[in-house]
Amino acid sequence: MQNKNRASDNRSAPRIIVMGSFVTDLMGRAAHIPVDGETVKGTFFKSGPGGKGGNQAVAAARAGGNVAMITKLGRDAFGDMALENFINEGIHAEYVLRSDEYATGAALIMVSEKTGQNSIIVIPGACGQLGEDEVRGAIRALSPASVLVLQLETNFEAIAVSLKMGKELGMEILMNPAPAHEIPEEYYSMIDYLTPNETEASTLSGVPVVSVEDARRAALALQAKGARNIIITLGEKGALILDSAGEFKHVPSFKVDAVDTTGAGDAFNGAFALALAEGKDIYGATVFANAAAALSVTRIGTAPAMAHREEIDEFLRARKVSV
Ligand code: RIB
Repeated sequence: MQNKNRASDNRSAPRIIVMGSFVTDLMGRAAHIPVDGETVKGTFFKSGPGGKGGNQAVAAARAGGNVAMITKLGRDAFGDMALENFINEGIHAEYVLRSDEYATGAALIMVSEKTGQNSIIVIPGACGQLGEDEVRGAIRALSPASVLVLQLETNFEAIAVSLKMGKELGMEILMNPAPAHEIPEEYYSMIDYLTPNETEASTLSGVPVVSVEDARRAALALQAKGARNIIITLGEKGALILDSAGEFKHVPSFKVDAVDTTGAGDAFNGAFALALAEGKDIYGATVFANAAAALSVTRIGTAPAMAHREEIDEFLRARKVSV
């Protein structure tokens, strides 16, 4: 597909910074995901750009944002491909750093043909070695921006310094706490939007989340830690919002035929960041992000499966939903 949102064409679009991981995805599909000790013959293999940070940057750029990425790659073929991909997607890559010591990270992804569900081992490599000064300098240089998007796939020092810098420079902070990992208590008050899925919400809150009711309890516990707005993504059950005024809203998901759910959370977060930066309220941003996530699961892959703005708008128009 022709690139529709190169950054150079897109200077007036809302500015979003993503600080996070890039890894190369090595994805195999099979009838089922192997259990411990099992070997399963696969049906399909594909490698391509991935990492939660990189995927979210692509999702935000394709949705119409003027996006800058901060990450670190190795000086290797995967790193060269990553950089080329960011540039082709129109993402500002001045602060896509290179490491002489560490290789570009990789993710080993297994997808079940039957359910579209996945299991992943991610090895961050170079993006797990982001220096505090490097990140501080990058955020300062890329400022001003409306939204700073973070995840938990890089080293935590880089995340902590991003939270502090983002706040200091007046950015709204969107934290997607993935993969599930505890966040030290003192950082919660710097988070404007916290977007865990069920597993991450359970890890962070200590409340096991299966139902929407559980999600309400978990959201209250997370808000009590200091995060302003909580959006718990619940897959087919939609998303549960607890906003800064203490109001709950449940947003149903869009029904689609899922072939690969990998990266659906990234599709949601990238589109959510863009919608916030465009000035949508938390409810409108969630509906918009749900549409982007629904489109992404109908396609195989992660970053390459992210939806373009026209597709999201058309998807919502076809369902008579306005945001
Ligand atoms: O969220 C999906 C991503 O998680 C994959 O692209 C893989 O790289 C892992 O980091």
